[in-house]
Amino acid sequence: MCGIIGCAAEGGEVASLLHRGLKRLEYRGYDSAGMATISEARIYVKKDSGKIDEIHQRLNFDNMPGSIGIAHTRWATHGAPTQVNAHPQLDCEDKIAIVHNGIIENFLELKEELIERKHVFRSRTDTEVIAHQIEENLRSGKDFLQAFFSAVKRLKGSYALAIISSHEPGKIFFARNESPLVIGLGDGVNFVASDVAAFIERTRRVIFLDNGDAGYITPREIRIYKLESGIEVKKRIIELEWTIEMAEKSGYPHFTLKEINEQPYTLREALRAQEKYLDLLAEFLDRARNVFLVAAGTSHNACVAGSYMFSKVAMLNATPVIASEFIENYGKSIGIDTVILAVSQSGETADVLAAVDHARMRAATVLGITNVVGSTLTRVSRAYVLQNSGPEIGVAATKTFTAQLTVLAQLALTLARKRGKLAQYEIDEFREELERLPELMKRAIEISHDPIKSLAKKLADAKSIFFLGRGASYATAREARLKVMELSYIPCIAYPAGESKHGPISVIEEGYPVFFIAPNDSTRKNVIGNMMEMKARGAEIYCVGTEGDQELRGISDWWLGLPSIHEALSPIIYIVPFQFLAYYLAIERGHDPDKPRNLAKSVTVQ
Ligand code: M6R
Repeated sequence: MCGIIGCAAEGGEVASLLHRGLKRLEYRGYDSAGMATISEARIYVKKDSGKIDEIHQRLNFDNMPGSIGIAHTRWATHGAPTQVNAHPQLDCEDKIAIVHNGIIENFLELKEELIERKHVFRSRTDTEVIAHQIEENLRSGKDFLQAFFSAVKRLKGSYALAIISSHEPGKIFFARNESPLVIGLGDGVNFVASDVAAFIERTRRVIFLDNGDAGYITPREIRIYKLESGIEVKKRIIELEWTIEMAEKSGYPHFTLKEINEQPYTLREALRAQEKYLDLLAEFLDRARNVFLVAAGTSHNACVAGSYMFSKVAMLNATPVIASEFIENYGKSIGIDTVILAVSQSGETADVLAAVDHARMRAATVLGITNVVGSTLTRVSRAYVLQNSGPEIGVAATKTFTAQLTVLAQLALTLARKRGKLAQYEIDEFREELERLPELMKRAIEISHDPIKSLAKKLADAKSIFFLGRGASYATAREARLKVMELSYIPCIAYPAGESKHGPISVIEEGYPVFFIAPNDSTRKNVIGNMMEMKARGAEIYCVGTEGDQELRGISDWWLGLPSIHEALSPIIYIVPFQFLAYYLAIERGHDPDKPRNLAKSVTVQ
């Protein structure tokens, strides 16, 4: 998730407007930044790796000439965070400069074609192909708008684009597919940006663009077309009443709530994990004698779900281990035929890195799944896959958990193919389920929000809450416990539902809240038995099951039905009500959900 802004202004103040906008977008990415402006039909570029303030101190963004410009703050997905990979990216002749948020899935294919046509690439980004493709189209005699439209039509993936060119020095061209893009309409100044925060100081009049929209802005003109048909469209101008603070959170009161709601988008980006790296990881995993999934906190809960996926889909045993316990428990038994798959959002968690160091010393192979390119984990792993979630500002992991699971699921599928463990129709079904995830996530959010918000009022004074599930839903129960506990500070318990009768059930007394995660899968029948055990001892039963399950609904005191989904994928969708529950319990109890006490986003001590 990067941040882009384009600004077309009458007068010469564009550099400072871009710079201020960029600062407001910094929460979307902060490993490198850059800016390009046009003056007297020449493009000027400043860019580097590092934070915006550091780069500004070195290069001074504010003295860039001209009244048309674009800028970018980056969260790397393709190519390390270096000066050359920072945006804007340019064509061969430095006549087209482009900033991009999203992932171009077919960039390698396009790049090969363009290299054959003698284009010279400077970066390792997916974005650079777009500049060269436009340049190529111009060579064949198209005007700029046509060259731009034809180039964009060839792209597969997600993009929000802003482009300037000395061929058309008075305009900023834009296009959108699956990455947010909004136009800001000022007086003698127009903007196009990833979100309203970038320009809210200057205007609250906006047009939200849809997928397939493309066009251009000048200081006084806005032209929007449907990319496919080339037909011009008129869009509604909305007058927002947001404060600057609200704009940074896209209108939500907290980052945590924004991040929960942005999961349909982040799942789509997670589904764009690069196939060649998934293949590489699957190759190592397939050859290993022992596989350990090593992580901490929420990432560990993702590993618990991941081990179910690997076992159910690829028939591979992978042991999930809490990172801080790894060396004590398994340190002496690992060797050259062991693979450690370390999962860490930040890629910097000290417990994970200690386990990884130990494994490397014993010649084991280390693989990684992370959200941060250039993090320590990416440097010490033989191979890694990115989860593409963009920065997560809320301390509690929400969107990064479901993205990790989505990457693990793709890896399980790649492994299943390689190992020949599934029939073709099963592979096809699983792939289709994966593709439905963003839509299912959207529905789960819509279904869960209101009932959970009211439930949080009822449970706000609970002394303790119990979470139970079987199979993959045990992972959901664990993550539900962690989320609710860290945001509401209510002590919580999570157990495999079948284990509860071996001790934990003794805590149950009249009215004790017990949540069951009970999707319609192979564990459902046994879960009913566990529910009856709890009910008989006076527990109040709260059940999250599959829509239409009248039997479970009848047994429960409170019920929420979510869409049906492949059982190995259910934690991705069934965690949603608990993310909302954690958030609204924090609100009800007067805590700041974005900054729970005693916690840090990245725990870099052992
Ligand atoms: O960056 P990592 O994924 O390695 O972080 C692991 C944990 O510190 C993290 O998940 C933590 O448990 C969060 N507070 C969960 O919300």
